[in-house]
Amino acid sequence: MDIDAIVKKMTLEEKARALEGEATWYTQDYPELGVPKIQVSDGPHGLRKMYRDGKTITSVCLPAACATACSFDTELMETIGSAIGKECQAEDVAVILGPAVNIKRSPLCGRNFEYISEDPYVAGKLSSALIKGVQAEDVGTSIKHFAANNQEFERMYGSSEVDERTLREIYFPAFEMAVKEAKPWTVMCSYNRINGTYSSENPWLLNEVLRDEWGFDGLVMSDWGAVSDRIAGIAAGLDLDMPGSRGVNNESIVKAVQEGRLSEEDVDKAVANILRLVEKFVSKRRKETFDREADHALAVKAAKECIVLLKNEEKVLPLSKEEKVALIGGFAEAPRYQGGGSSHINSFRVVSALELAEAYGSCTYSRGFSATEDVTDEALQKAAVEAATEADKIVVFAGLPDVFESEAYDRAHMQLPACQNRLIDQLTKLGKPVIVVLHNGSPVELPWADEVSGIVEAYLGGEGVGEAVMDVLYGGTNPSGRLAESFPIKLSDNPSFLNFPGTGHKVTYAEGVFVGYRYYDTKQMAVRFPFGYGLSYTDFRYSNLRVSRDSFTAAEGVTVSVDVTNVGDRAGKETVQLYVADQTGSAVRPVHELKGFCKLALEPGETKTATFTLDKRSFAWYDVESKDWYAANGSYVIEVGRSSRQIEYTAEVHIIGTPEKPPVITPDVQLGELMQSPYTREYIQERLKEYMMKFTQSDSETDEMIEAIVRFLPLRTLRSFQGATNEEVESICKGLQECIDRQTQ
Ligand code: BGC
Repeated sequence: MDIDAIVKKMTLEEKARALEGEATWYTQDYPELGVPKIQVSDGPHGLRKMYRDGKTITSVCLPAACATACSFDTELMETIGSAIGKECQAEDVAVILGPAVNIKRSPLCGRNFEYISEDPYVAGKLSSALIKGVQAEDVGTSIKHFAANNQEFERMYGSSEVDERTLREIYFPAFEMAVKEAKPWTVMCSYNRINGTYSSENPWLLNEVLRDEWGFDGLVMSDWGAVSDRIAGIAAGLDLDMPGSRGVNNESIVKAVQEGRLSEEDVDKAVANILRLVEKFVSKRRKETFDREADHALAVKAAKECIVLLKNEEKVLPLSKEEKVALIGGFAEAPRYQGGGSSHINSFRVVSALELAEAYGSCTYSRGFSATEDVTDEALQKAAVEAATEADKIVVFAGLPDVFESEAYDRAHMQLPACQNRLIDQLTKLGKPVIVVLHNGSPVELPWADEVSGIVEAYLGGEGVGEAVMDVLYGGTNPSGRLAESFPIKLSDNPSFLNFPGTGHKVTYAEGVFVGYRYYDTKQMAVRFPFGYGLSYTDFRYSNLRVSRDSFTAAEGVTVSVDVTNVGDRAGKETVQLYVADQTGSAVRPVHELKGFCKLALEPGETKTATFTLDKRSFAWYDVESKDWYAANGSYVIEVGRSSRQIEYTAEVHIIGTPEKPPVITPDVQLGELMQSPYTREYIQERLKEYMMKFTQSDSETDEMIEAIVRFLPLRTLRSFQGATNEEVESICKGLQECIDRQTQ
């Protein structure tokens, strides 16, 4: 397709029509211009292709992002992406609407199950891998929801009030990394407003940051129904309005151009982006088959990689087929394996743990509670306790019923249904080992955590979760998942607690960059389970941490490696994590931040090396004043470990050569800053000589006090305390500025 020629041929009316979707999932077609329509589909953890009559195809439900995130496995993400890409080719779907990478600010966000992590690095790396996998099959992705969409309450109207540094460091990087590393074909803007402006009409967000700064050259579409002012949106860089206005906006677009309120050039740009997307897909269409059996096998494999073993006291797991095991809880019959809303898949095959129980040996089953509601049924609970009395070990299949968490609303609290907690309490009193398997999309409070022997976090593990859980429980799979989010002890520990979900149509992100472990670890708070945490049936030993150099410029960066040995007796996988702790004091920062991870598969006795390359961004924070990333000179500690709370080795390194930030010269600048800065130190010492001489010490003032007073004195106080004239203060300011300019130009 000659895109420019087609745009030239189109009338203004035709262009206006092109800027919105058709029948919910399609773009517009122009047969006379040789432009077909293409279909987009949800996502993100399976293909939710919908027909015009609203029916969805039967598809394979892969683990939701809350689970796949725990794999910390970029290869697996790519494989999943590739499978979804092939399914799309088979079903003639041009773009899968995902991945969803919004940061898990509060455990209560109803869509946390679809999102990857509380950490932007993890969300960025894993989503990039998924995008690469899908797009290698010549199918597009739509990374979503850009940006700061971290709750469902008032999601289509509320404003996320976030300072720029926090946006740049926490809420943007997953999008930024994916755009730069994986080049998604499309980006979906979020419903909400950011600091008062809807994402769908925010020129700073869509044009300046996304396109000009990050180099995004694809298409921006709206979330479904996110468009408020379509004209402002086109000018701001929103190409495609989905599902569209059913033609209502077409006339206003034409009128806006005719009246000079919207430039035709902006319209042309948007149309060209849409045509380029169509061209990208149709030019490489190929035949594929949607092999549901193969993809179901992948769903099971993936679920196994995602399960996190949270507790395994006295090696209560794995179970053996010889033990008498009581399975309890409705989730054994009906596992909750996906969340509600736009990501919901019409699943191909779901096998429950119960259906497999016989094959695993001597298991009994008693429901105890329903998987769909929070109702205590005394008779059911009594029967469950009786069944458990006969067993060697008790495995409770617990979790959140569907109604507890879903797209469109947030959770009301962080608890499991009371009926489940009650039964688990009763079971722990029997004096037998109790193991709890959890099916949930986001952390829950675990009041009985100290009383049970084992906890297995299965999350919403997709249609293969039943098969995967049984394999992990009986040791066929050695669990290797790691938490991609912290489990606070209780909801009120969470840093967003005081400001979630907000009032007056605004939610203030008052905790700033202190999200998740960045907060808990900096505050040295106890958590139920820390970020990055997860156990294995084997043990690993770390040794030999090396850094390629101790001092380096930010541009040079550094390479870090560490050896890891499997010292147990079975094969297993370890996720090595690297955190950077800024010691320079150049900004208020979290005590440490994840800047690398690496999953190693190790046979018993085997040693492998995890290697990390750190660049400027690994050390930098976002400086709003200079509008750039800043890695201050000075010391940083590199921490390598198994979770944010289990650091095995540290190494101190130094950044050198970053130009110091010169002080901002006004009469209010503090003397201490001037005396510390290499730009102004000499000059100010010289100029102050005459004034400081006049400072007489009274009896009550110590040297330390005088020093502190001088440090925090604004330059202008030379007038009040030292008898300087206005002209003298101005002349010092001028001299200081000249001195800085000479050194920085
Ligand atoms: C969701 C998107 C989804 C879209 C289409 C919206 O409500 O926020 O994630 O892709 O609907 O179903």
